[in-house]
Amino acid sequence: MRRIGILTSGGDSPGMNAAIRAVTRCAIAQGFSVMGIHRGYAGLLENDMEELTLRSVGGIVQRGGTILGTARSPQFATEEAQRRAVEILKNASIDGLVVIGGDGSMRGAMALEDLGIPTVTIPGTIDNDMNGTEYTLGFDTTLNTIIDAVSKIRDTIASHARVAVIEVMGRHAGHLALNAGIACGAEIVLLPERPMPLEMVCDKLRETYDSGKSYSIVLVAEGAYTGFEVRDFIKANSSFDPSVTVLGYIQRGGSPSARDNVIAAQMGEAAVNAFLQGCTGSVIGLIGGQIMATPYEEAVALGHPFEERKYELLNILSR
Ligand code: ADP
Ligand code: F6P
Repeated sequence: MRRIGILTSGGDSPGMNAAIRAVTRCAIAQGFSVMGIHRGYAGLLENDMEELTLRSVGGIVQRGGTILGTARSPQFATEEAQRRAVEILKNASIDGLVVIGGDGSMRGAMALEDLGIPTVTIPGTIDNDMNGTEYTLGFDTTLNTIIDAVSKIRDTIASHARVAVIEVMGRHAGHLALNAGIACGAEIVLLPERPMPLEMVCDKLRETYDSGKSYSIVLVAEGAYTGFEVRDFIKANSSFDPSVTVLGYIQRGGSPSARDNVIAAQMGEAAVNAFLQGCTGSVIGLIGGQIMATPYEEAVALGHPFEERKYELLNILSR
C-alpha cells in the first residue's frame, strides 16, 4: 500500500485537524503519499480531493473544525454509491482510507471495508458516544466550553436568585450533559438515557429551594428535551420563572484542548500503524488508558455504555 486517503465526516469536532496532521506526517514518514478528500463521503462521491503534504498540514493544529470540510451524505448509505466510491478510490490509486468521524461515519467505513477497501476509523465527535472507545476527539474541548459558559450564566443567575435552563448538545447521548453537570455543579441534569418527567423537575426545584439554595442550574441534553420545553413547563407549573440559554454551535467550534490534540496525534499515528501492521477494518480507540485498534465487529459488540456510576455521583453531589 503506497497511498492513503483521509476524510472527515459527520459533525466536526475540535481535534480533527490535529488528527489529519498526525496521519499525514506519520504516513509520509513511513513512505506513503496522502490524499485529503474534501467534505466527507459527499466529496468522495464527487472525486473532490487533493494531495496533502508536510507543509499543507502546517498551521492547522490549533484550529477547530476541519480543514478538509465535512458533510452528512444520505446518498452514501446506498450500496450503489458505496460501489462508486470504491471505483473512485481505485482510480485515484488510493488503497486505504482513514475516516475521522462518529458512529455513522464508522458505518460508512465498515461498508467500504466490506467492499474490499482497507479502512481505519478515528473517533471524532463531541458527543463521546462511539463504539469501541472510551474517548472521542472533541469531547474535552466541548466540555470545557460548556463549563465556561455555565460558569458565566451562574454569575448572573446567582445575583438574581433565578433558575437557569441551559440546553447542551447530545441528540442521542447525554455524556456531555452528565459530565458538565458534575463539573459545573448543576442541580438537575436531563439526559436521553435517563428520562425524567418534567413534573419531577418542578418537584426537585422546590426541594432545592426549600433546602436553602437561592438559584438552580438545569442542564438539559437536547436529546431529552429542548431547553424551551423545559422552561415553558416549569413556568406554567411552578412559581419559578427560569431563563433559557441554548448553547448551540459554540460548543462544537473553538481551538482544541491540549488533551484533544495529544490524543489526536496518538490516534493518527496508531491509524498509520494499523495499515503497516495489517490490522485495518478497525476503530482506533482509547481503552483503559491505551490507544488500540479494535476490529469493527468487536467494537460494535463492546458498545459505549452509559456511565451509571457517574450518574449516581451526580445525584449525590447536586443536593
Ligand atoms: P457521525 O459520523 O458524526 O455519527 P452521521 O451519523 O451523520 O455522523 O454519519 C455521517 C455520514 O456517514 C452519513 O452522512 C453517511 O454518509 C455515512 N453513514 C452513516 N450511517 C451509515 C451507514 N449505516 N452505512 C453507510 N454509511 C453511513
Ligand atoms: O456532532 C454531534 C452533534 O453535535 C450532536 O450532538 C447534535 O445532535 C448534532 O451533531 C447536530 O448537528 P447538526 O446541527 O450539524 O445536524
